[in-house]
Amino acid sequence: MSAEIQLNDKIYWIGVNDRQTALFEELWPIPNGVAYNSYMILDDKVAVIDAVKDISMDRYLEKIRSLLADRRKIDYLIINHIEPDHSGGIKILREAFPDMEIVGNKKTLDLLTHFYGIKDNVRQVEDGEILDLGTCRLKFFLTPMVHWPETMMTYEETHKVLFSGDAFGGFGSLDDGIFDDELRDLQYHEAEMLRYFTNVIAKYSVMVQKAITKIKDLDIAMVASTHGPVWRSSPRHAIELYDKWSRQEAEDGVVIVYASMYGNTEKMMEAISRSLTAEMTGPLRVHNVSRSHPSYILADIWRYRAIVLGSPTYNMGLFPLMDHLLRLLENKGLKDRIVGIFGSYGWSGGAIKELTDFAGRMKWQLTEPVIEVNCSPTDEDLNNCTRLGMNIVQRLRT
Ligand code: FEO
Repeated sequence: MSAEIQLNDKIYWIGVNDRQTALFEELWPIPNGVAYNSYMILDDKVAVIDAVKDISMDRYLEKIRSLLADRRKIDYLIINHIEPDHSGGIKILREAFPDMEIVGNKKTLDLLTHFYGIKDNVRQVEDGEILDLGTCRLKFFLTPMVHWPETMMTYEETHKVLFSGDAFGGFGSLDDGIFDDELRDLQYHEAEMLRYFTNVIAKYSVMVQKAITKIKDLDIAMVASTHGPVWRSSPRHAIELYDKWSRQEAEDGVVIVYASMYGNTEKMMEAISRSLTAEMTGPLRVHNVSRSHPSYILADIWRYRAIVLGSPTYNMGLFPLMDHLLRLLENKGLKDRIVGIFGSYGWSGGAIKELTDFAGRMKWQLTEPVIEVNCSPTDEDLNNCTRLGMNIVQRLRT
C-alpha cells in the first residue's frame, strides 16, 4: 500500500505513464511520454473515474486490487471520455470486475457499444444528474466536443474535485510527482499542456469556452484531468491557461516558419529576423519546417501574435511540409494573427500565391511587403525583407 497516491481521504490516483508510444494519436511526438490518469474513489460504493489505454494493464489492475484489498468489487466505472487512450483497457477491467456498472451519457454508451460491443450493465446519466457513493457525490456536467461529442466532466461535490476529462490536460509523463506543487519544472509541464491543447483540443476552442462557462461557479479544490498534472495548489491556473488558449489570446512575439531547399529563402528569413530582433520586444521563434515537427510549430504559432511564413515554390506550389502546416492551421481555425509572407522560385512561381490565399482565407492581417524573389535575393529584395520585419514590429505595437 506504500506506493498509493492519494488526492484526499477517499480518492486515489491509479493512472499509468506511457513511455512507449512515440506518437500520440500516431501524429504528435511525445518524447517525454504521456500520463493516462485514472482515479479510484473508495467510499460506501467504489468508483473508478476514467480508465486507461490498454498498456500496462497488469500494473493497473495490481494498483486497483491493492487499494480494494478485501472489498474485491468495483461498483461503477465513470467514463468522462471514451477515446481509446482512456477506454482501451475497459474490456480487461470488466473481465476482472464483471459486476462493475459502466456509467456514461447516451453518446458514451452508444460509442461503448460500437467500440467494444458492450451493452449490458451500463447506466445512462443526464446533464446535472448526481450519483451518490456515500460520502462522495458525483455530479455530471455534459461538455460535448472537449474533445469528442460524448465528453463530460464529473465533479465530486464533497471534496470539490473536478474530473475534467481531456480538458486542462497536457503531454508528458508524470515522473517527479502527480500534483502541480510536486513538479520540479512546472514551466515544462505548461509548455506540454500548450502543445497538447494546440495539437489535440484547439479545433474545439469554442466548446472549451462553453465548458469553462458551464463550470465557472463551481468551487474547485482540485482539477484532475485525464492527462498531465493534478492541480491542487492552483487549480484555477490550469483553467485560466485553457481559457486563454481557447480564446486564442496571443502574446507579444513573432514566429518565423520557413522552408528553404538551397538557402535562398533562408537568406531572406535571416534578413527578416535581424530586422525584427533590432526592434521587437517579445520573443522570436524560428522554425524550419523540414526540421521542426508541426506539433511544436503549432504551439508557438498559437502563443504569439505575429507569424512570418516563407516558402520556396515546389512543383508550382507550396513546399509540401509548409502546405501540411497550413492545412493544420486552417483546420484548427486560428484567428486574428499578424502575418508576413516571403518566398522564392526558380522556373515557376506558385508558393507566394498560395501563402497569400491562405492569409486571406484565415482573415489574418497581411503585412506589406509580400516578397517574391526569382532564384536568389538581390540587395533590393533583402531591403524589402528588412522593411517587412520593421512593418511587423510596427503592427505589434498597435
Ligand atoms: Fe485523451 Fe481525447 O483522449
